[in-house]
Amino acid sequence: MYLKAAEYIKSRLPAGRIPKICLILGSGLGVLANNIEEAVQIEYSDIPNFPQTTVEGHAGRLVYGNLKEKPVIAMQGRFHYYEGKKLEEVVFPVRVMKAIGVEILIITNAAGGINMQFKPGDIMLITDHINFSGVNPLRGNNLDELGPRFPDMTYAYDPELMDKAMQAAEKLEISLKRGVYAMMQGPSFETPAEIRMLRIIGADAVGMSTVPEVITAVHAKIRVLGISCITNMAAGILKQPLTHQEVMDTANQARGKFIRLLEAVIAAL
Ligand code: HPA
Repeated sequence: MYLKAAEYIKSRLPAGRIPKICLILGSGLGVLANNIEEAVQIEYSDIPNFPQTTVEGHAGRLVYGNLKEKPVIAMQGRFHYYEGKKLEEVVFPVRVMKAIGVEILIITNAAGGINMQFKPGDIMLITDHINFSGVNPLRGNNLDELGPRFPDMTYAYDPELMDKAMQAAEKLEISLKRGVYAMMQGPSFETPAEIRMLRIIGADAVGMSTVPEVITAVHAKIRVLGISCITNMAAGILKQPLTHQEVMDTANQARGKFIRLLEAVIAAL
């Protein structure tokens, strides 16, 4: 299934310029793909077996090209479990990327801040995660050609890539927080009680994505760098209701800083 998709994508890329870096762009960050030079756009609907975006107005395309003189491939539009997609579909693109030859996955998202030191607009390096979604993309027959039945998750977030991100942030004088990302299934936001629980078990931020793709990437020996935009304080902290609008507004405000950081990291890879 994923091999056929990969073959098609490879046939659309310039020979000898296989991207080693894949970017999955979260809410409000899709515009980073506009900075990609000599872009080749590949609509999801043209790729055999590729899942389709269900949310109207959301882009659904791969953008290949150069970012900081490095060949990259970005997913503009990602899939969420809460959309009703099978987890297999949510992580399908990661397997396609592996088959293309991608070695590094840079994955971004919008997340609610649980750590009281954070504030909306902060950027957080994901140092580890808690899979609180109740599901795992590796359930079922193991794809032995990709990785082992019981993959180690000790270094899910690549220490060397984390160092590079910290160094890039320091150079740019961007304050880069660090923390543990917890995934909830959504689509309802969490209750204040759930946020207190997540804080007790060691989460610094919460969101509804990323963890399935990271597990799939680690299984297939793709190195992962995860970065969250803290778009809001999680439920119950500021005593005000959460809205998707707030999430999008903060992501839009923070995105200049976010993009500068990502570009600096890519330049350093
Ligand atoms: N909870 C879950 N997902 C989110 C949040 C949140 O507070 N903010 C952005 N994505």
